[in-house]
Amino acid sequence: MPFDIQVTRTREPKPRPPAGDLGFGRFYSDHLFLADHEGRGWQNPRIVPHGPIPLDPAASALQYAQAMFEGMKAVPGERGPLLFRPQMHIRRFNVSARRLCMPEVPEEDFLHALRALVREDASWVPTEPGASLYVRPTMIGTEAYLGVRPSRKYLLYVLTSPVGNYFGPRPTPLRLWVETEHVRAARGGIGAAKAGANYVAGMAAAERAKKAGFHQVIWLDQNHQHVEEAGTMNVFFRIGDTVVTPPLEDSLLAGVTRDSVLHLLREWKVKVQERPVSIAEVAEASARGELKEAFGTGTAATVSAIGELQWGEKVMRLGDARGEIAERLYRTMMELFGSRRPDRRGWLVPVDPS
Ligand SMILES: Cc1ncc(COP(=O)(O)O)c(C=O)c1O
Repeated sequence: MPFDIQVTRTREPKPRPPAGDLGFGRFYSDHLFLADHEGRGWQNPRIVPHGPIPLDPAASALQYAQAMFEGMKAVPGERGPLLFRPQMHIRRFNVSARRLCMPEVPEEDFLHALRALVREDASWVPTEPGASLYVRPTMIGTEAYLGVRPSRKYLLYVLTSPVGNYFGPRPTPLRLWVETEHVRAARGGIGAAKAGANYVAGMAAAERAKKAGFHQVIWLDQNHQHVEEAGTMNVFFRIGDTVVTPPLEDSLLAGVTRDSVLHLLREWKVKVQERPVSIAEVAEASARGELKEAFGTGTAATVSAIGELQWGEKVMRLGDARGEIAERLYRTMMELFGSRRPDRRGWLVPVDPS
């Protein structure tokens, strides 16, 4: 028996934001899903109006960053909203939970909760091309206790937010700064968990890069040699006729879009390698004219072409147009999200099981 969810509907539904104003994460739909854990499994699953949650100032989420999240999208379908690869996001949520000493959520219960919430706020799923309902499951330690050990109380909640394209309505290829001072995550750390702490680790460098006119940072490993990922994306390089992406390590996020893109590339018989790629190799390929494309992948970013990389004094220019493979991947993903392409892999899961 999955969660028996109590539903309290809002009495004050909010007006929908104008389609052109969505941006990313600025608006929230009407409801939240919540459940509590105090050592005896998840209790009191409920859907309530979106609003503040009470939290003790000593909560472990606030004191020791016992906090994590997921990010997935819901898109409109002919018979109600569709969630993109929710099971893979749930599995990654539980990987993060284990790493941060937090309780896991049974997959069946979690999927049931996501479906119930998105069904409740189905009218918040935007229908404009490129827009979606971003679904943000979150778990925080809530016990008020200052000793350093895992919290004995947790809150699981899921909020949803109608979003447009992460990089704006008509994104041009991105300018990325290769960071050589700060490191986002080291081997053995929590980089593969979707922990809020990983994002704050990157903020200073990201802000510095933004001030210098870059969209995001490319993170290198702890030795400042190998490429790991970008601020909110996994990264791919087309060197000659081969698409190369860094392998999954415990210092970077195992992107769901990365996995989807790898499936598509292999289906299209494009040569793909998941292997360590040093920034020096990328720079040398660029100098030889062999760096044909670079792109980032992510739930919010979909497939975003990279037009320029700066590594110290070296500027690697890829041009203003999306590369051939990035363009094909982007188009394919958009067609899939817009139900204009058959979903042969069953990646889109209806929120209405009927
Ligand atoms: C640090 C980081 N890497 C990679 C990704 C891409 O992961 P996914 O494709 O699952 O959204 C994200 C974003 O969501 C991210 O925040």
